[in-house]
Order: sequence, then C-alpha cells, then structure tokens
Amino acid sequence: MKYSALKGIRDIFPPEIYLWQKIEKIADDVFSAYGFQEIRPPIIESSDIFIRSIGETTDIVEKEMYTFNDKAGRLITLRPEGTASVVRCYIEHHLYNLPTPQKFFYSGPMFRYERPQAGRFRQFYQIGAEAFGIADPKIDAEILSMLKVFLEKLDLSDLTLELNSIGCGKCRPDYRKALLNFFSDKVRSLCPDCQRRYEQNPLRILDCKVDTCIQLRAGAPYVMDFLCNECREHFDLLQDFLKLLDINYLINPNMVRGLDYYTRTTFEITCKHLGAQNAVVAGGRYDKLVEEFGGPPTPAIGFALGMERLAFLLNENLNNTPSPLVFISTIGIQAQKEGLKIANQLREMGIWTEIGYAGNSLKSQMRRADRLSARYVLIIGDDEIASGKLKWKRLSDGSQGNLPFEEIVSFFQKI
Ligand code: HAM
Repeated sequence: MKYSALKGIRDIFPPEIYLWQKIEKIADDVFSAYGFQEIRPPIIESSDIFIRSIGETTDIVEKEMYTFNDKAGRLITLRPEGTASVVRCYIEHHLYNLPTPQKFFYSGPMFRYERPQAGRFRQFYQIGAEAFGIADPKIDAEILSMLKVFLEKLDLSDLTLELNSIGCGKCRPDYRKALLNFFSDKVRSLCPDCQRRYEQNPLRILDCKVDTCIQLRAGAPYVMDFLCNECREHFDLLQDFLKLLDINYLINPNMVRGLDYYTRTTFEITCKHLGAQNAVVAGGRYDKLVEEFGGPPTPAIGFALGMERLAFLLNENLNNTPSPLVFISTIGIQAQKEGLKIANQLREMGIWTEIGYAGNSLKSQMRRADRLSARYVLIIGDDEIASGKLKWKRLSDGSQGNLPFEEIVSFFQKI
C-alpha cells in the first residue's frame, strides 16, 4: 500500500525548511523589537470559540472548519486561525490586568477545508501578532511599520499595502442599509452565496470573486462615505502616521475581510506574483471581540501572514543551504572509533560534523562528503592511527595536510 499526505496538506522538509527558518527568525527578531512576546495557544479549541468570533455566516465557519466530536462528545475544532485562541487566552488568564498594551505573536499550523489551489492549502502556517488595549491609531501604524521592516528584511518587493476602514457598531448599520438598498433589485442575479450574504452579511458581497457579482457591485456605496466622526478621525490620523513613517498604501474600499470580528482598520498586503490567492498578510482591528467574549472592553488589532505564500515569494536559491564543516572518513574499526571520538568533540563545540559508516569504501565516503558539500574531510586509516596524525583536505581548493590528533579541535576552533 502506498501512503501519501492528505489532499491540500504538504510536508515541509530540507532544503525548503531553511527558508521557513529564515522567515521565523526574522519575524522573531523584528516583532521582539516592537515589544511583541511569543505566545503558544493550542491547536484545538472548543468549536464555539471560532463560531462566535469568526462569525456564524462566514465561509470559514460555514464550510471550512475541521470539526469533530472528541471521545466525550465535546465539539472540537482544529484552529482555522489564531486570533480567537489568543483572545480566549487573554481573557481566561486575566492578561488584561497586566500593563497595557499586551502584545503577542504566535506561529503554527492552521486548518481550513478549502479547495486546494496554488497558495491555498488545508493545513497552512501563519505567523500572527495581536496587540490588546490601545484604541490610538498609532498602534495600527506601529503594526504596519513592523510589517514593513519585516518584509524589507526579507528583501521582498512588488507588495502593496491595501487599507480600508469598515467602521464600527455605530456607523456600519447605516452602511449596511445603503448596501441592502443598492443590491435590492440585483439580488436574484447574485451568486447563491451572495444571495445568502444579502440576508446575513451584505458587506461580504463586496469581496466575492464571482464575475457576475463583481459586475453587479460596480457603483455600490463606499463604506468610507458612511464612517462616523470617530471612525473618520481614526482613519485620518492613521494615514497621517503612515505618511510620517514613509509607508505607502492604497485605499481599497472593497476590502471587507472574510471574518466578522473586524471594526475600523482592515488591511491586506498583496503581491501581484501570487495569482488569485494574492494576500500575504491580512489583519485589522477587532475592538469589540474581547468584550463579546466576556472580557472587559478592550480595543485590539492584529494580523497574520501566510508562511507558504511568503516562502513562495522568497524564491531563493535553495542550493545555498547549510552544509557540514567536517566529514570524517574512516577505514578500519580502530579508525572508526577514533573518528567517532573526534566527531563527538567537534559536535560538542557546535561544529556540524558527519562521519562515514562501516561497509562504505573510502571512495563512497568521499562521494558522500562531496554531495553534502562538506568543507573539510578528515581521513583516518591504519597508517594515520600508527603515525598519530590524520589527513585533512579542503574540498573547495583541494589543499591538504597532516595534523596530530590532539590538534584537531584547535584547528577547527580557528576556522
Ligand atoms: P486571514 O485573512 O484568514 O486572517 O488569513 C491571514 C493570511 O493567512 C492570509 O492572508 C494568507 O496569507 C494566509 N492564509 C489564509 N488561508 C490560507 C490557506 N488556506 N492556505 C494558505 N494560506 C492561507 C486571519 O487568519 C486573521 N486571524 C488575521 C488577524 C489576526 N486579524 C487580526 N489578527
């Protein structure tokens, strides 16, 4: 029987893993400089947590969650995103009692039963960040600046920051009414999903990808024209800060996001090289979610980036991956013992060292050293044991020499 990974689920292994490690390392460094601390929420939660936060009528909750009953009959979901869990953790552990703002970042797998396509998987990885307790748009700008620094350190180009404000509980009902009005004589021509959205959440019609819906929404009212004074002021100030920080953006009034918890600022960073699934990063404010979850009123904002999409864009030379500094080729049992001892000493010093194994000729060991791109090969046979000196060879230029066993450690220490 032949086994393979499930549809839409990938293995990530060398050399691609080196790209992932690089992204994670840069995220860790940059996010820490902005005061974000790591948090590791669980991968499974009670389903209610996602249903209530993401929204009952969203695609994620309606169609995409991996939900099952555990052995005690509880309804459990594999997390489709990270925000809901972080909010649950923030409230459960009373983190709101700590000095404001509390800022967290996380990374790990998320699960959505979507139709797999380029850049869209059923298990995918996100790095996300969430900041709690600040209503000031300065923190929106700080987060966007953090993302700019992060993406610049990865040397990514051709990215666009798309920005919008979708208002708040005060102004959105008027906008909703205006949308209902606009679509009232078009409902029957909308796609079946949007006909449902018309009843439940007409804003979502604005980011439907079906051609007829795209045509039918031409001329739809803009949310921007309905913002209340507070939301308007927030958005204007945010734009001032972004200009101050030299962050370019494009206002996209149709970007409403696919999760229901957002208020005011929403954003996506998109890349034209990604095709249909073009968002590398997405996020926004969710000023009411903590309160709706039973916590104290706490404005919040965050984002998540898609690791697969970022790794794809990095498109780096994957041959340029780490390789061992030392390969120890041995012939004969005595040499193997000596080689094992030396390997141990070097490894204790943190030097990547590989060894040959019994049954492999010197030639095949040398071939392996070459394939691994080891920088140095040490050769130990009966003659070397007898003389107390081993042979070393630098593979890049063929230079070589002899070295007493007791000097090996200091030789590589210098390198
Ligand atoms: P989201 O837009 O659902 O937002 O996902 C964020 C990012 O995750 C996307 O822009 C994309 O890069 C990646 N992504 C999403 N679904 C897939 C998939 N099926 N395959 C590959 N990559 C995918 C959220 O998840 C929010 N929790 C973001 C947030 C945090 N908002 C506030 N705080």
